[in-house]
Amino acid sequence: MCGIFGYIGNTKKKVALMTNKALCELEYRGYDSWGIAAESDKKMFSVKAVGKISLASTSALQGIEGNVAIGHSRWATHGGVTEANAHPHFNGAHTIAVVHNGIVENHDAIKSFLCEKLGNAFDGLFCSETDTEVIPHLIDYFITHEKKTFEAAFVEAGRMLEGRYAVVAMKIGEPYLLAMRDGSPLVIGKGNHEYFLASDVPAFLLHTRTVLYPGDREYLKISADTMLLRNLDTAKKVDREWTTVTWDKGSATKEGYPHYMLKEIMEQSLSLDKAIRQEDAKLAEFAKIMKDSEHLFFIGCGTAAKMAKLGELYVARIAGRLAHAYVGSEFKVYEQFLNKKSTIVAVSQSGETADVLEGLRVADAMNARILALLNVVGSSIDRMSKKTLFINAGPEIAVASTKAATAQIAVLMLIAYALAGKLAEGKHLMRGVVKDIKTWLTPDVSYDIQKIVVKLAKKNDLYIIGRGLSAPIAHEAAIKIQEVSYIHAEGFPGGELKHGPIALIEHGTPVIALIPNDETKRDMESNTMELRSRGAYVIGIAPENSRLFDEWIPVPDLGPASPIASIIPIQLLAYHLAVLRGNDPDKPRNLAKSVTVK
Ligand code: F6R
Repeated sequence: MCGIFGYIGNTKKKVALMTNKALCELEYRGYDSWGIAAESDKKMFSVKAVGKISLASTSALQGIEGNVAIGHSRWATHGGVTEANAHPHFNGAHTIAVVHNGIVENHDAIKSFLCEKLGNAFDGLFCSETDTEVIPHLIDYFITHEKKTFEAAFVEAGRMLEGRYAVVAMKIGEPYLLAMRDGSPLVIGKGNHEYFLASDVPAFLLHTRTVLYPGDREYLKISADTMLLRNLDTAKKVDREWTTVTWDKGSATKEGYPHYMLKEIMEQSLSLDKAIRQEDAKLAEFAKIMKDSEHLFFIGCGTAAKMAKLGELYVARIAGRLAHAYVGSEFKVYEQFLNKKSTIVAVSQSGETADVLEGLRVADAMNARILALLNVVGSSIDRMSKKTLFINAGPEIAVASTKAATAQIAVLMLIAYALAGKLAEGKHLMRGVVKDIKTWLTPDVSYDIQKIVVKLAKKNDLYIIGRGLSAPIAHEAAIKIQEVSYIHAEGFPGGELKHGPIALIEHGTPVIALIPNDETKRDMESNTMELRSRGAYVIGIAPENSRLFDEWIPVPDLGPASPIASIIPIQLLAYHLAVLRGNDPDKPRNLAKSVTVK
């Protein structure tokens, strides 16, 4: 999803190069084109390109020295992947530059407004197909025709925007940057006589750890030495606390692994260990809110939606409570059942997923209580929730969610145990799980799976089956395989096979069977038998081998935490399939790490 960056300082620097480097740090968000604008010798320098930021020829950027720059990595929504559509966007005179993450829903109405006001001067003004381009033209209109200052024009334009945005703007000759946000991420970094603005902290972590998160409908004016935050609607000054980022840049580098995805898979005993170190009191407060509710919902998207489903299963099995899990984009239909006695638990790695935020806005409007299980502190969902538990997985850079998913499973289990009043039992169990994963998850496991993957790399279809706690994992397995290997994959509850999908099975069709040592084992063996007799090539993921398997991936027996043992081999399988098929597992095509549009 789009990444934005802004810089202002009191001494001349190679600002274009610095912005290019900052955008590289945001590459993990997913993008297809990028651009930079900087003021150099009182003139606007700009560059835009389609493709990789890290491959940009830096010699042109090297020569650009100045105090102010903005940059953007774009993930196309309005208009194709072209240089013209890449940000920054400019006013007609090329003196105002704007970068934007989000969506201007009323861009057509703003265009009509400008057309009416500007008459003939409107013709040929727009250079792109984007919704964003209305912003610099609108600011320019207020400056040129209504004689407003840059700041007043920016605020006026901001008040007209409908949708969701984080916007940064600069103007030649003005010694400050302006920014505003409503619904899209924006963080400010404070350095020594310099400030940074970005969609996420890694963009400026090399320069500062002191950060501040503006709230929705707030705008800020930043010069090298001052930062003023105000409410966009009332213009009243807003005071917010600066905080210190404690995590390390080291935890956001590959540390010798060829890809982030592999690193993030292999470090899961560590991330699980951090995830289960939850304070008892916080878990108890979280569980109490859930306990006191009449209706309990979990929402999430993609992988997090599958984990939300596991949340539903865990609270039913461990705490005997009925909950309902839905994907964020489909939640609105349940609005009629929400009231102040409803609790919604949002599950999200980034805390920025637009479809989840949309669901939460619906819940908020009905006065329901919002809880969240997140990885990113200070994210939009964090700010919306009454209480947040953090999974503490550290930055997840690869687009495919791996360590965040298992950390979500671990904390969801602890929540269910807390809800059942058996937190000590849950924590004891999870400490054992972490130990077992640490012993089992060695490079040998990855190597053995790599050997199996060689036999699958040319297949067109792959199916995964599981029952009970393994059913959401079968669905999650399909997402993992689809997104990085681009092989068609589908997950089914084992019992559903004979109701249709079994017709797809031919001689040699690969099917992965998830068979933990739980109450689903016998039925899963029957389902696997049905598949084998129709010629399926069966890969079993199970603590014990079986004559039903063509290939066996042994996993530890983790009891109710079996979903963790089942999903890790699939993550490895998906990773090796991607590499063998020549795909970049860290940046799968068409996908973004943080999906901040509906
Ligand atoms: C798949 C994946 C996505 C995300 C989904 C929600 O590997 O990463 O399906 O799980 O976009 O993202 P978050 O968890 O950030 O809300």
